Amino acid sequence: MIDGLKDKVVIVTGGAHGIGKAYCKGFADAGARVVIADIDQPGAEAAASEIAADVGAKNLSPILALHVDVSNEESTKNMAAQVLEKFARIDALINNAAVFSVVPMNRGRIETIDPAEWDKLMAVNLRGLFFCCRAVLPTMRTQQSGKIINIASGTVFAGSPGRIHYVTSKTATIGFTRTLAREVGGDNINVNCLAPGNTLSEENPSAETIRLRESSAGLRALKRVQVPQDVVGAMLFLASPLSDFMTGQTVNVDGGISFL
Ligand SMILES: NC(=O)c1ccc[n+]([C@@H]2O[C@H](COP(=O)([O-])OP(=O)(O)OC[C@H]3O[C@@H](n4cnc5c(N)ncnc54)[C@H](O)[C@@H]3O)[C@@H](O)[C@H]2O)c1
Repeated sequence: MIDGLKDKVVIVTGGAHGIGKAYCKGFADAGARVVIADIDQPGAEAAASEIAADVGAKNLSPILALHVDVSNEESTKNMAAQVLEKFARIDALINNAAVFSVVPMNRGRIETIDPAEWDKLMAVNLRGLFFCCRAVLPTMRTQQSGKIINIASGTVFAGSPGRIHYVTSKTATIGFTRTLAREVGGDNINVNCLAPGNTLSEENPSAETIRLRESSAGLRALKRVQVPQDVVGAMLFLASPLSDFMTGQTVNVDGGISFL
């Protein structure tokens, strides 16, 4: 259990499924007030009920499930307004929503990627980041505190063939993080990035997906498949006061594939 997150208001975009849902459960376990914001509203509500039942009496704070399309600026402003109406502050924003597996992408080589899919992926993975940060920053600046954690990917460190649009978006996330850290540090806002390795995050993985996830195990110093829970500790640390003097950084959690 990590200290310092009790009653903090934490928004997790893309929190209805996969690794985002594991972050939400971790924050709820730590006593935070969690906002699950996802394009899949029924999924967000189901995740909120499941987490509330799991966490039980450990955290009596309500878990808020919201609809958001991070690629739409109005929708992200609505998300921030609803959180403020409910909780009157925003302590952390986890920019986790992405075109990845629930909203799938072409994992083929460059010639096979439709330019329309390139644009759609950039609209969610990058414009979404830009809009969500802009939606919460006025509140964080007024509070003179806040934590923004963006999600990159282990694919950026050595390059990774296939899905070049995705890897490009995740590489840009690191530059975005460094620049925003310098822009908002004067208001006591930390901006960091977490890069998970190849993680078995699917709820009902196909045999091919399991093979894909298992393919990384042998490359790791720690030789096993990575699961969502493996990333939660680093996330809680980055959102907590324990990391108050860290900003602009990228934390790699991949079981020892890339050494930065
Ligand atoms: N699983 C991995 O191997 C891995 C590795 C490195 C990084 N990541 C990153 O971690 C994050 C979570 O990955 P995951 O495996 O859980 O993916 P996932 O596809 O399971 O979950 C993504 C979530 O984002 C939501 N979402 C998609 N488009 C949205 C939109 N426009 N607005 C709001 N929500 C939207 C989806 O509904 C889903 O709940 C992503 O940023 C992904 O790129 C994943």
